[in-house]
Amino acid sequence: MKSKSIFSPQNPCLKSIFSTPLESLMATSLDLNDDSLCSNPQQQQTETHENSSETALLGEPRGYLSGEARVERAWGHWSKLGRPKLIVAPMVDNSELPFRMLCRKYGAEAAYTPMLHSRIFSENEKYRREEFTTCKEDRPLFVQFCANDPDILLEAARRVEPYCDYVDINLGCPQRIARRGYYGAFLMDNLLLVKSLVEKLAINLSVPVSCKIRVFPKLEDTINYARMLEEAGCSLLAVHGRTRDEKDGKKFRADWKAIKAVKSALRIPVLANGNIRHMDDVRTCLEETGADGVLSAETLLENPALFAGFRTAEWVDDGEEGNKDGLLDQADLLVEYLKLCERHPVPWRMIRSHVHKMLGEWFRIQPQVREDLNAQSRLTFEFLYDMVNRLRELGVRIPLYLKEKDSHVQGVPEDGLAN
Ligand SMILES: Cc1cc2nc3c(=O)[nH]c(=O)nc-3n(C[C@H](O)[C@H](O)[C@H](O)COP(=O)(O)O)c2cc1C
Repeated sequence: MKSKSIFSPQNPCLKSIFSTPLESLMATSLDLNDDSLCSNPQQQQTETHENSSETALLGEPRGYLSGEARVERAWGHWSKLGRPKLIVAPMVDNSELPFRMLCRKYGAEAAYTPMLHSRIFSENEKYRREEFTTCKEDRPLFVQFCANDPDILLEAARRVEPYCDYVDINLGCPQRIARRGYYGAFLMDNLLLVKSLVEKLAINLSVPVSCKIRVFPKLEDTINYARMLEEAGCSLLAVHGRTRDEKDGKKFRADWKAIKAVKSALRIPVLANGNIRHMDDVRTCLEETGADGVLSAETLLENPALFAGFRTAEWVDDGEEGNKDGLLDQADLLVEYLKLCERHPVPWRMIRSHVHKMLGEWFRIQPQVREDLNAQSRLTFEFLYDMVNRLRELGVRIPLYLKEKDSHVQGVPEDGLAN
């Protein structure tokens, strides 16, 4: 099934939010979208685009329910989705449709879209068309927004609710751009506003609202925060066990004890995020936190087959018994990803980013191939397939490994999605 932009192309006359094609290919939106994502409307190029068929509601709004009924409904929904445990975390420019589909093929049971900016999403048809695509197989799906205005958030959310299972609010982004735009983790300083965002969606949408948070330095604050979100109508909470100041995931370990405390304090499903690098981490995290599922981000970028039990050499302990070459390597995954991109087109900057992440190890061994890639201001699929062939001809292979006990984790179809 081909992907479609949910939003029909109309007046595609907006200037690109990127200043030059090269920049747009080289940078992530987090780096470059500062102005376009900034909260000041004067700085935006906007376009009003109203199309009632795009905003069709699914069924009745959920309305206000008492605590007990809300918790029951939260679990009913989660169960209807099959209680997914292995989940692709939201990643700007990186958890787009083809990448989600690749991860789903290799064991992911649900996925988040990248963070979408609610105001730009409400106003700008081109942004919607380029930044949010999905297809029938792309479920269960969380569509994530950042926001600081409940009405604007609701307007954006209404456009996606027919195509997703949760509308998620990003309450964890710690980047400079989020400080400037006043969203993400910077709303931890304004919990009344956070409450109003959650309530607005919980009362008016037909799909449940979920939130993704970071922890406060003090456990008690984190627990009060999580309880407030549940009370406001949040149906599922993902907890990234790092504080707003702990930006570097490699430097700071996520605090699973804090996640465990949140799980114990809440009655809705809770997901754990941070430090999930292979299936042993998944098992330990679920056991130690009691969480209902895990999200993984950075490791999946390098190894989208993580949830099928594959691991990079970095996570194979020397002398450990039972590890075998999984007969899959990162170049195979990249080729599958590229085929998915041909089927489900996305901006080239996203593809470029995945090429660097998936082939990072190869590039360290063959830096001239990376230089050739960087020299291309415009990419083509032909160039990228040729590049993979060149790497293979150079005789390098970076295998992914399987532990005996993980071989059965997920049945990976032999033919694959990429055909
Ligand atoms: C490239 C990249 C983009 C990200 N974008 C988002 C985002 O759009 N929304 C969000 O809530 N978190 C975002 N994150 C944070 C991840 O979802 C996750 O919380 C964080 O990386 C910790 O998980 P990990 O230890 O598995 O990497 C991003 C992370 C990365 C690496």
